[in-house]
Amino acid sequence: MKHAFSDLFDTKRPLVALSPMAGFSSVSFRGICHSLGSDYAPTELTSARSIVMNGIAKSYRFMTIDPAAEGVTAIQLFGNTPDDFAEAMKIICDDPRLAPVDIFDINMGCPVPKVVKTGAGSALMKDPVLAGKIVKKARETAESLGKVLTVKTRTGFTELTLNGPEFARVLVESGAEAVCVHGRTAKQMYTGKADWEQIRLMREAVSKSGVYFFANGDVKDGSSAKAILEATGADGLMIGRAACGNPWIFTEVKNCLSGKENDNKMPTLSEKCDMLITELEGRTREVGEKLAVTEMRSVMPQYIKGFPGAAKVKVALCRASTKMEVRQILDDCLKEENGNG
Ligand SMILES: Cc1cc2nc3c(=O)[nH]c(=O)nc-3n(C[C@H](O)[C@H](O)[C@H](O)COP(=O)(O)O)c2cc1C
Repeated sequence: MKHAFSDLFDTKRPLVALSPMAGFSSVSFRGICHSLGSDYAPTELTSARSIVMNGIAKSYRFMTIDPAAEGVTAIQLFGNTPDDFAEAMKIICDDPRLAPVDIFDINMGCPVPKVVKTGAGSALMKDPVLAGKIVKKARETAESLGKVLTVKTRTGFTELTLNGPEFARVLVESGAEAVCVHGRTAKQMYTGKADWEQIRLMREAVSKSGVYFFANGDVKDGSSAKAILEATGADGLMIGRAACGNPWIFTEVKNCLSGKENDNKMPTLSEKCDMLITELEGRTREVGEKLAVTEMRSVMPQYIKGFPGAAKVKVALCRASTKMEVRQILDDCLKEENGNG
């Protein structure tokens, strides 16, 4: 059974992954990103406790995987006890739909109060001993299930407690097979600039371990992808927000990192509208039309960002409640772009 990170990928080159994002990392979007160059994409965070307490039915939609479309698959869990992670992983692997998952990723970076107040997510950065116990137990369980165990974290809980390097060492010594660091503290949430120097210090602290290290935060295009790798010494990188409405970023970044001529061909409005519909159709298959359209309200405007009249179209898209309405709004937008409006 495969259970080494390097069995899953060609780790000699920089991997470029879609960073997990609650509300955005649907299985259809992850598949789209993979088709355009993303190496893999963990699901958004799911509560290990909830799986242990209630089984997987309630959480299934957030953990749906599609190995045919996604390639390597990864489910992200959050929690605050070693036993919950171990139990949740076993329950997941008992479900034939989820059993093929390749990677379990532990969330040690979520700053949202609802998660932090349970002692999970970024709160674990305040308790490296417990974090180490969680990783150790989760790694043992992952190995017994033939799965890989990775961790995603931040630089510290606040700017006054930047324990990133020490924390990264704990993760690696406890058995994390890959680590991803988002270069912000939990207190920063998503504000300010990602601190690539702190990521570099964390990378340096575990550089001898051979554990694959991802840098994350503020990568927006090919040149910032190159820059984050150079600044941090990371092996690979994850891209979050900049991929929303722009899954082509993975092609751009891959071309840039492999030194291929980047033709810099921006997708046209028509291509962007087609992709929006592809994502919407995918989400409709997942959760039905009504919920798909509602949940895509935060994503749809990202596809048309920067095009003339985007602000007006954005308002209309945010009011749409059926696929037909979305199509009509996009058709009108395209007509206007082509001067036929
Ligand atoms: C809306 C939203 C939801 C997120 N949800 C998750 C999540 O479920 N798990 C996780 O590890 N990180 C989550 N993140 C953090 C991102 O994965 C990423 O670390 C962060 O956005 C920084 O990367 P970026 O600058 O490329 O966006 C989320 C971020 C955003 C904006």
